[in-house]
Amino acid sequence: MKSHVAVLMGGLSAERDVSLVSGENCAAALEEKGYRVTKIDVGRDLAARLAEVKPDVVFNALHGRYGEDGRVQGLLDLMAIPYTHSGVLASALAMDKPMAMRLFRSAGLVCPEGFEIEFEDLQDGPPPMEPPFVVKPAAEGSSVNVLVAKTGDISALTKRTDIAPEARFLVERYIPGHELTATVLGEQALTVTEIRPKKGRFYDYGAKYTEGFAEHIVPAPLPRPVFDKVCDWALRAHWVLGCRGVSRSDFRFDPKGGMDGLVLLEVNTQPGMTPMSLVPEQAKHCGIAFADLVVRLVEGARCDK
Ligand SMILES: Nc1ncnc2c1ncn2[C@@H]1O[C@H](COP(=O)(O)OP(=O)(O)O)[C@@H](O)[C@H]1O
Ligand SMILES: [Mg+2]
Repeated sequence: MKSHVAVLMGGLSAERDVSLVSGENCAAALEEKGYRVTKIDVGRDLAARLAEVKPDVVFNALHGRYGEDGRVQGLLDLMAIPYTHSGVLASALAMDKPMAMRLFRSAGLVCPEGFEIEFEDLQDGPPPMEPPFVVKPAAEGSSVNVLVAKTGDISALTKRTDIAPEARFLVERYIPGHELTATVLGEQALTVTEIRPKKGRFYDYGAKYTEGFAEHIVPAPLPRPVFDKVCDWALRAHWVLGCRGVSRSDFRFDPKGGMDGLVLLEVNTQPGMTPMSLVPEQAKHCGIAFADLVVRLVEGARCDK
């Protein structure tokens, strides 16, 4: 048993607050299971902190830039400290949505039609696509700065002054229908959840982290062949990027398209571990208690030396 676990949490991304909740939740579960736990709020001094703490293993509860995109993973490889979740390459590929989509498409999976654009070109240019469409950062999570443009008006985003002119965005065709997600744990898809945000919302930041803003239906009430297709695509997406430990793939499903109505949005290599998060809920549905899920990730931790 790897007895001393450093839980990396917080960090420098827009998802810092979510990661603090994921980290506290995982740290409490590990303590309950008898591990010695040191929580580290990650900053630019992470290497020095790890050298001081000397953990046997790292539980990576970071989300977003630095923590989920391969950079922290690279540092841990260099320091020869085993860590949970995906390694450098899978993390970097998954975080960059345009790059991940190239790989998904080459594996025969369907992603929304769309293109990349810099923020200043969104600000200056004509409407980027016939509405409805979605504009979202090329490399962020938790629906931060995602805009569903039903009418084509994107001024709520383009008037923002806190976004760098060269920030990369994706413009995608809006996929109507259902919001689905599926977890891969080890080499198996757990189940599929349908998420129904409250009226007038999409699955935005508020709906993800506010009690009562979205309903989760596990298992998703889908025709069996569609359900199985979601599980199969989640496995293939996990595999094509080379993910480890756990991943969660997000989908849209337009029933008007029948079996062809399934579209893959993204793979999350550090999915949320908060009390409201989807992976713990799916694990529970499959008979895996939260603490056992966390232990399983720790015991499967590794690094590329
Ligand atoms: N092309 C799309 N069509 C419809 N809804 C979308 C589309 N892209 C994103 N969304 C909505 O925005 C949410 C966040 O988008 P996603 O690509 O999963 O990014 P992230 O979760 O990393 O912020 C999705 O869960 C979905 O509700
Ligand atoms: Mg998502």
